[in-house]
Amino acid sequence: MYTLGRKLRFSLFGRSHARCVGCILEGVPAGFPIDVGAIGEEMALRRPRPGIGTGRAEADGVEFVEGVVDGRAVGTPIIMEIANGDADGSGYLAFSRTPRPGHADLPALVKYGGFDIAGGGQFSGRLTAPIVAAGGIAKQMLAREGVRVAAFCRSVGGVEDRGERGLEDAMASRAYPTRACTAELDREFSDCISSAGEDGDSVGGVVECVIGGLPIGFGGIWFESLDAELAAAMFGIPACKGVEFGRGFALAGMRGSQSNDAYRFEGGRVVTETNNMGGILGGMADGAPVVFRTAFKPTPSIAKRQRTVDLDSLEDADVGIGGRHDPCVAPRAAAVAEAAAALVVADQMERGF
Ligand SMILES: Cc1cc2nc3c(=O)[nH]c(=O)nc-3n(C[C@H](O)[C@H](O)[C@H](O)COP(=O)(O)O)c2cc1C
Repeated sequence: MYTLGRKLRFSLFGRSHARCVGCILEGVPAGFPIDVGAIGEEMALRRPRPGIGTGRAEADGVEFVEGVVDGRAVGTPIIMEIANGDADGSGYLAFSRTPRPGHADLPALVKYGGFDIAGGGQFSGRLTAPIVAAGGIAKQMLAREGVRVAAFCRSVGGVEDRGERGLEDAMASRAYPTRACTAELDREFSDCISSAGEDGDSVGGVVECVIGGLPIGFGGIWFESLDAELAAAMFGIPACKGVEFGRGFALAGMRGSQSNDAYRFEGGRVVTETNNMGGILGGMADGAPVVFRTAFKPTPSIAKRQRTVDLDSLEDADVGIGGRHDPCVAPRAAAVAEAAAALVVADQMERGF
């Protein structure tokens, strides 16, 4: 199993075309009420949308196998299963011979003898479904402490949202299939994704995540710092290739006089005048919303022919990938990023940070 967190411990299992994917969530306090309907709403945000997502249609119902009775956590590990009902393995066997550029096929075939490549096996985006389910519980734990986590798509295929955005905008993005903040951007993102798909190609995108309500000082230090653990969780999500907090890489080109977030008092509280640091200093919340962006690469499986190798004939070859794939993973990954962030913050909360 693949594990995230120490006290609120999330362990992920399954493969794309196994009977199910699922997770075990340890550390939810006994008696904690779980709103199963709200978890269903989170799952719906990860589901592919017509035209901009894969044609694989999964119901994504979450079965609480153990650990929840009468809507409350028992205090024992919570086991959640999500059935794989619409698996179609035809076509994948070829990739054992001609691995897909950009996907995990080649290293997985070399590393794991007998690797079941169907649907990408354990490297499939399908395994992000349990992250969203468990993240839904983490969000409910955080909400009790006044902490909210939400994400939106900042850019898709180079089309960028240049607006000033905050937590409420991120919440509003839940209404749009592309997770854009406005209807106009939703259309632009959608057109960009559709046209890449029509070309047999794919595009990437940037997901921005906002965490509101963390008190000054929340977080850890060094390798347990809030940004270190959030970044590690983001890099665990398939197709993530970059994470930056606040102004991120742009900070490297600024002067300290421009980059430092000045303080002032507002209603007896210390606030920052800007949020270039993304709400984290020394690994701890500085009172501003925590803001970070995660870059998702273009989906590796594309219909366009690409160069690869034939591992049987030991000759150069090419491959065109049919089947059902997301032309852009970013809109679906927004739900995953906010769920993974919620798991990290709720774990740090349970650890007394
Ligand atoms: C929500 C989500 C959906 C994805 N869907 C696909 C897909 O349909 N086809 C594909 O080739 N990759 C898809 N991916 C990306 C691959 O899983 C990923 O690129 C692959 O496992 C290699 O890992 P890496 O990109 O992190 O190196 C998806 C990722 C996420 C987060």
